[in-house]
Amino acid sequence: MKNSLTSATTALLAALLCMSAQASDMESELVARGRYISLLGNCQACHTTAGEKPYAGGVKLQSPFGTLVGSNITPDPETGLGQWAFDDFKRAMSEGKGRNGLLYPAMPYPYYHRVTDEDNTALWAYLKSIEPVRHPVQSNLLPFPYNQRYLMLGWNLLNFSSKPFEADPGRSPEWNRGAYIVEGLGHCGGCHTPKNLIGGDETSRALSGYVVDSWYATDITANGYTGIGDWSVADITEYLRTGRNRFDTASGPMAEVVNDSSQHWTEADAKAVAVYLKESASSTAKAPRPLGDEDPRLARGADVYAFFCTGCHGATGRGVARLFPPLADTALVRGESPASLLRIVLGGSRQGVDTALGAPGMPAFARHLDDRQIADVLTFLRNHWGNAATPVSTEAVRTMRQQLKAGAK
Ligand code: HEC
Ligand code: HEC
Ligand code: HEC
Repeated sequence: MKNSLTSATTALLAALLCMSAQASDMESELVARGRYISLLGNCQACHTTAGEKPYAGGVKLQSPFGTLVGSNITPDPETGLGQWAFDDFKRAMSEGKGRNGLLYPAMPYPYYHRVTDEDNTALWAYLKSIEPVRHPVQSNLLPFPYNQRYLMLGWNLLNFSSKPFEADPGRSPEWNRGAYIVEGLGHCGGCHTPKNLIGGDETSRALSGYVVDSWYATDITANGYTGIGDWSVADITEYLRTGRNRFDTASGPMAEVVNDSSQHWTEADAKAVAVYLKESASSTAKAPRPLGDEDPRLARGADVYAFFCTGCHGATGRGVARLFPPLADTALVRGESPASLLRIVLGGSRQGVDTALGAPGMPAFARHLDDRQIADVLTFLRNHWGNAATPVSTEAVRTMRQQLKAGAK
């Protein structure tokens, strides 16, 4: 009797243990899923300061209206989200409401509101599992009147609808997964969609290109001229997972997006995004007429190119795939704004992606070329080898030179 009781107790204990092990397996599976969702959403870009504890906040973000700082979202009870319940978290993601009232859209709730409850639950489980860090952060460093959070009531009225994501039944599951990532967690429009005067998305021109922080986030619609229309699904997938492909290398903010976020996505998710971009509405930009051959800037620019650039980008501008990006017949070069081209030629650029360690860099030419030479070589590139785009003025070079404090020749 005693024996059988013991064995019954042991069995019960074993069952209980097994259940709690299962529960903790489920818990850790949920946390792991949440971690992956944080990578799709790139939360750390704005909430983790380089070299500091994860998610303790303090990242300064410049907007045309002033500075905002990513908050502490660790589970610290006083300076982080330790006292929040899931519903509070969901309100921040879906409605843009934080502990101090309405959030500014520097927190990408205009995209994140499309995140499903299921994904928010996993993300919340993950955030609760990270180390709590005591680190007070003042998010709102905007000048008056922009520092008045109630202004966001009006902003939301004009620019925000909390409508959840709706799959399009006429499209494949893969396309819908891509839509969910691009329009939601990936918040690609945050940089790639043109903004109205108060910083809201011009949704009718979604993803057709916008200048952020003096970088041009290119047209990533299926436009065959200014966009990624000529890229195959495999090309886009490769770019998202490695930061380069036969057309381009990611520089500046996009190198950070690849590094912090898209290189960690599953191949299936990167491919879904590619399929969505390829098979959605294209922007309406068309090739303008290239400058006439008699334009003196072209001959002068060709000379600068031959002397300073052929060594790496090649005499016909074709580059060397994945090492020296092509400049001929390239969307980045003929994009509406030459901002990234100016930044890269003046300041140089090193392929900032982990997967390209040891890859060659682009030298800074600020001290080797004057404003006119840079304007000429870029005007030449934008109007040669299949490219046609507005010329680049010496004023534009001068302004960017000052902005980057790049020094003079
Ligand atoms: C592009 C930058 C950016 C990204 C990406 C970003 N955030 Fe934020 N987030 C901010 C800023 C800035 C604030 C503070 C806004 C304010 O105070 O109005 C904020 C605020 C928050 C808050 C409210 C905190 C509080 O104290 O009220 C939460 C919660 C939050 N973010 C979670 C996330 C999560 C989860 C992700 C990833 C899915 C994420 N954020 C991605 C910039 C960002
Ligand atoms: C923080 C701003 C930012 C975000 C967010 C962002 N991008 Fe970009 N993206 C850029 C910039 C800037 C460039 C131009 C990079 C360069 O000059 O090499 C770029 C370039 C690209 C290109 C290459 C286009 C070409 O013709 O060379 C693709 C593809 C792309 N982005 C896709 C995406 C997708 C998909 C997302 C969302 C998951 C995204 N980007 C989110 C800033 C951003
Ligand atoms: C020593 C080799 C080298 C020389 C010389 C060089 N480049 Fe580059 N260039 C690169 C590399 C490498 C990259 C990719 C770096 C990156 O985007 O991070 C690049 C990128 C670029 C880009 C951005 C293209 C893209 O797809 O991201 C432009 C525009 C450019 N170079 C123009 C020029 C011009 C104009 C000259 C001459 C004045 C020049 N380069 C000289 C190596 C070179």
